[in-house]
Amino acid sequence: MPEYDPKAYMEKLYLSDPLQDPLLRRVVEAAGLPVGSRGLDAGCGVGLQIPGLAEAVGPEGRVTGMDIRPEFLEEAGRNIDRWGLGPRVSLIQGDIYDPPFAEREFDWIWSASCACYSMSRPLELLEVFRRILEPGGQLLIVIWSAQQLLPGYPRLEAMLNATAAGMAPFTAEDPPDRHFLRLPGWLRKAGFLEVAAQPFSQGICAPFDRPIRDALLTLIEMRWPGAEEELSRADRLLYRRITDPDSPDLIVDLPDYYGFYTYTLFRGRNPA
Ligand SMILES: C[S@@+](CC[C@H](N)C(=O)[O-])C[C@H]1O[C@@H](n2cnc3c(N)ncnc32)[C@H](O)[C@@H]1O
Repeated sequence: MPEYDPKAYMEKLYLSDPLQDPLLRRVVEAAGLPVGSRGLDAGCGVGLQIPGLAEAVGPEGRVTGMDIRPEFLEEAGRNIDRWGLGPRVSLIQGDIYDPPFAEREFDWIWSASCACYSMSRPLELLEVFRRILEPGGQLLIVIWSAQQLLPGYPRLEAMLNATAAGMAPFTAEDPPDRHFLRLPGWLRKAGFLEVAAQPFSQGICAPFDRPIRDALLTLIEMRWPGAEEELSRADRLLYRRITDPDSPDLIVDLPDYYGFYTYTLFRGRNPA
């Protein structure tokens, strides 16, 4: 795996936001957060979903962003000021497995691309969430769940998906029930009610403007980090030829490019 560089990762979050924001706003809308409610964005990163969450709960509502990494929280703080959300949003450093909150502190918990993506300790984590949720409160877990981003190269895309990097954080040795698509079962086991899973898709069809092109290229880069090392030499060269920003055959510059990806919203209600 390539070394983790938080600054480079933040840049990718911003570059991909023109594609991510409209989709994730639709997910927030579907979540139906009560006006005036108090919620937690668990693993908020630089806070890109906080404006949508704050808008949904209205001026009387409160959103707390929590992340384990101080450098992301500092950036989130600058964003919150820039967006003028100061009094309605607070930020705190914390670990989702041991969050610094009292029992029943929130009406809902939102976690995008963080909680339950890795299913190492699903029950422990879901029990923690139940503890800090009000009875009747909603748990909303959002995870990237599928994509077709390399039109015309289904074999290459399937090979990339079958690499360890393409499957991570799941591994071929993990029991099947530890894959995030099995989250509904774990939510039920943890005692959540009205468990449901709903996919949301984002299509990307040429022609598109520069920010969408750059967002698409960034999503392709983020999807299979380091996977090319697991490919055959021929596949590696092909992958580079269609994804290298300097290549004349760059796939995102095809005049007839079409691709899509999905996130799934997993949800459950804490019993009253
Ligand atoms: C892929 S980013 C997603 C950020 C944000 N939710 C978004 O969608 O833009 C995952 C975030 O989860 C945070 N994270 C990872 N493990 C965590 C943990 N145990 N507790 C709290 N935050 C964590 C990371 O620092 C990172 O900011």
